[in-house]
Amino acid sequence: MRITAIIALLMLGLLWLAGASAQDPNADVSVAAGEYHSIDAMRRGEALTSEPAAAPMARVENTDRRRQRAWPEQPPTIPHSIDGYQVDKNANRCLLCHARANAETFQAPMVSVTHFMDRDSQILAQISARRYFCTQCHVVQTDARLLVGSTFVDVDTLLQASKER
Ligand code: HEC
Ligand code: HEC
Repeated sequence: MRITAIIALLMLGLLWLAGASAQDPNADVSVAAGEYHSIDAMRRGEALTSEPAAAPMARVENTDRRRQRAWPEQPPTIPHSIDGYQVDKNANRCLLCHARANAETFQAPMVSVTHFMDRDSQILAQISARRYFCTQCHVVQTDARLLVGSTFVDVDTLLQASKER
């Protein structure tokens, strides 16, 4: 009886020691917001037991300056704010200005011909259903910080490099 009690106590002691020496896995994980390069944009490396301060929201740039596209088929970014623009089954605010018939009045670039194509590349009379929800592909320009680094190289740079070789 006594021996079992002593062994049990020893075991408990050992367990306690092991627990105390093991490092808290979350101890050093938190990094100042902004320095953390991870796609985990929600917690930014913060330990699960603490609540990270909210990162400042990116500001939408409303400058009317069109950004260069990184490659020819990139959906161009939207150079104006789109706050409150309704795009649903009843109405499409974007087409008020970007539809073929209205583009001249608003001096907006008309949606390109690909927006009229069905999946067999047949050109329809009206915007194809595949291109109806504009913000599926087009995003507003913001001053958001990069979440992850990029090694993207522009095609012109590639062509230049291959010419030099
Ligand atoms: C009140 C008219 C108006 C509305 C509504 C509007 N736009 Fe525009 N958009 C423009 C004009 C004008 C430009 C040309 C650049 C500028 O002046 O901002 C433009 C530029 C763009 C461009 C850049 C095209 C390029 O070649 O770089 C995109 C993309 C775009 N708009 C998408 C949208 C989307 C998506 C919506 C709806 C969420 C929308 N626009 C709603 C007027 C409008
Ligand atoms: C499935 C993705 C997708 C959707 C949805 C979409 N676009 Fe585009 N858009 C593109 C791509 C890709 C380009 C660039 C290549 C091209 O013209 O197809 C583009 C180009 C444009 C351009 C520039 C045209 C030019 O000639 O420079 C405008 C303006 C535009 N889109 C507006 C819109 C509007 C407004 C809507 C909603 C009615 C919309 N897009 C929906 C992918 C999309």
